[in-house]
Amino acid sequence: MRAVILCAGEGTRMRPLTYSQAKHLIPIANKPVIDLILQAVKDAGIREIGIVVSPGARAGFKSYLQDGSRNDLELSYIVQQKPKGLAHAVQCAQGFVGSEPFLLYLGDNLLENGVRGLVEQFQQGDSHASISLVEVDNPRSFGVAWLEEDEIKKVVEKPDNPLTNLAVIGTYVFDHHIFAAIEKIGPSKRGELEITDAIQQLIDDGYRVVPHRVTGWWKDVGTPADMIDANQLLLDAMIPETRIKDGTNLEVKGKKGQNENAKVRDSRLIAPVMLGKDVVIESSVIGPYVSIGDGVIIRNSRIENSIILERAVIMGARSIDRSLIGRYAEVKSMGDSSSRFLLGDHSQALI
Ligand code: G1P
Repeated sequence: MRAVILCAGEGTRMRPLTYSQAKHLIPIANKPVIDLILQAVKDAGIREIGIVVSPGARAGFKSYLQDGSRNDLELSYIVQQKPKGLAHAVQCAQGFVGSEPFLLYLGDNLLENGVRGLVEQFQQGDSHASISLVEVDNPRSFGVAWLEEDEIKKVVEKPDNPLTNLAVIGTYVFDHHIFAAIEKIGPSKRGELEITDAIQQLIDDGYRVVPHRVTGWWKDVGTPADMIDANQLLLDAMIPETRIKDGTNLEVKGKKGQNENAKVRDSRLIAPVMLGKDVVIESSVIGPYVSIGDGVIIRNSRIENSIILERAVIMGARSIDRSLIGRYAEVKSMGDSSSRFLLGDHSQALI
């Protein structure tokens, strides 16, 4: 089986960070989202993966992931020329997929237990599609499914009056009939070819579509707040791989996950905290739930629940909470107040 990962979204809710890189390349717990997804796909036994990207993002993906061989994967890049919807993106991947069943993975979905269960369920069953479902409190924000016995009979994209609280999440397995279904649908109210409409078409054409109940947490990381929440979930789950070697007056509480090249002086780390390479932390209190990228410098600051991307510099910030700070960004503070930031790459905040 091959997999198609959809990464062509513009990431408008993540601006300004997405002006300089695709949201799928932004790290959570120091790993770009796309790496977390590729690992999950590989864990499901799939090595041939097509990544659907926008024309402007192709170079960034390719220079980071290359052909995938260093992770024992075979990656292909498929360009979706215009953002015409998820079903349109799937159509763009038809040549790559061929006539075999395939895993479709929306590139902003993270699942605690990956997609192995979904793939195995499809392989062992006799359906034309398996659709992952999660019970949610806010079904109006998602595609919503209605079941009859062990089959999905209705799916509606972001309904005003949801029939159930079962959200269709971003992982599916389809056989080739989905392509004929996509041919038959037209654009939705938001002007896109919706994957939910294609699934409904599949059902209306008499094909068997079954639910796959997801276990463990699931997170759609479309906004900075989602990223910060996912950072917490991942740091909680992370097994410490490395340890700090150089640190004076260093106190590490609870779980640890530090890189050995980090230099921590006169500081307190409250775990879980993830430090990249060559991080310098002085006279600061960091954590819990902070991921810090390579080469970040932090002095005289207090940071919790945040993602600090590579080579950012933070000086004198008395309290930073639930923030996402871009690459090479600088925060210099003279004040005492607490702050919340969403700073794009190379930006400066002097407060
Ligand atoms: C998309 C799908 C929707 C699904 C959601 C899951 O919505 O259209 O059916 O529930 O992903 O993340 P979007 O995030 O593109 O609005």
